[in-house]
Amino acid sequence: MAFEVPFDLLFLGVPSKAQDAVDICVSLIFLADFWIRLSRQRAPSRNALSNGNGRSPPGFPWELMGDAVAVIPFRLFMPGTPLELLRLCKVPRVIQDLLKLRYEHIEYWTLFRLVFFGYWFTLLVHWLSCLWIAIRGVPADQDIWTTYNLGLYWCITTLATVGYGDITPATNVERLFTMGVMIMGVGMYSISIATVATIIMEMKPEIARHMDQMHRVVSFMRRHRMPIALQHKIRDYFTFIWDRQLGSDESALLAMLPKTLKADVSLILKRDFIACVPFFRKADDELLREISMEMQSVVFAPGDFICVAGENGTEMFFIEQGRVEVLSKDGSTVFREQSEGTFFGEIAILTDIPRTANVRAIEFCRMYSLKRESVQRIAGRYPEFAALLDEARRERMAIFAPSPSPSPPDTRS
Ligand code: CMP
Repeated sequence: MAFEVPFDLLFLGVPSKAQDAVDICVSLIFLADFWIRLSRQRAPSRNALSNGNGRSPPGFPWELMGDAVAVIPFRLFMPGTPLELLRLCKVPRVIQDLLKLRYEHIEYWTLFRLVFFGYWFTLLVHWLSCLWIAIRGVPADQDIWTTYNLGLYWCITTLATVGYGDITPATNVERLFTMGVMIMGVGMYSISIATVATIIMEMKPEIARHMDQMHRVVSFMRRHRMPIALQHKIRDYFTFIWDRQLGSDESALLAMLPKTLKADVSLILKRDFIACVPFFRKADDELLREISMEMQSVVFAPGDFICVAGENGTEMFFIEQGRVEVLSKDGSTVFREQSEGTFFGEIAILTDIPRTANVRAIEFCRMYSLKRESVQRIAGRYPEFAALLDEARRERMAIFAPSPSPSPPDTRS
């Protein structure tokens, strides 16, 4: 309608069966829309405060006035009447509905923005072209499409401030209108560039965030003249985080959720990992929910010492991705390599003895850490978890027996 009405008014007196059919179809659609809105408004309201019987107050629905007027096909009864412009009362309703749609389907936000921008831009060009034709007049010896085509051509060249000069304003009104469209063109130009740039940025907000973070990190390292090897290590670390997590911040998201939802989300986030850890296969759902809530995601770079022999241990680790090596106290012997789905660091937190070996990352590793207090609390509440850990600890200590004899697992909560 927004396209048809101005076009229709311009080329008065040109009878067209196709236009009549379009008019009738649009009127029927508008009528159905008006009817649905009216019945929704009259439907019992759930809000008991609206009135006594839960229905909207009877009487004429003034807020649907625009929708009602837009239904009338003025052109069919009075061809060429300016009253036809009243049908444009539907435009604010369309804007309102489109905005609602955009918030309801937030996942398509960027696409909606792009489509809306194209729609409003095309509509503006159409309206300005029609206005230009109305000011200049429709030549009697020219067919509709040529006139409209010339109007559109003038509008686009003027808006784009190209102005080839083949169609020039001849009267004062035409000159004033042309100047107005030129000024509008400058504004439109900057708005279109800004909109397209914003849309592109919004398409991948995480890329923009990552680039910004990398710029800040690099300039920080250069400002403090850090050694090149360290700069590379830090850069590799951020690249690893970016590659594996795509910039998503798990802990920030979890912190926003209430405790009950946090447990469900934590379990879902860690479900793939938990499924591939043999140690967890014997655990029931409730225990897994508890453990997944307490697990913290940590990353280590190649060469990092995760456990240092002789130090007090505060946490144990589950490897999600990457490889580590377990080394003797002096670092001369490699006892074993561990990879995805295995755990280490449990001896020191289950007993009172210091770390029994060194554990070093061979490559970038993503792990989940479980603090001593969390392990003790969960072990206190779930004896099967305490038994599982103790069994694993005994197995390891049988192979690599540390000198002081360990005390039994402390399961005080
Ligand atoms: P913890 O002593 O807390 O810190 C070092 C960890 O290395 C230790 O816990 C075990 O998890 C692990 N570890 C020690 N010895 C061995 C071994 N022989 N084989 C595999 N893992 C070991």
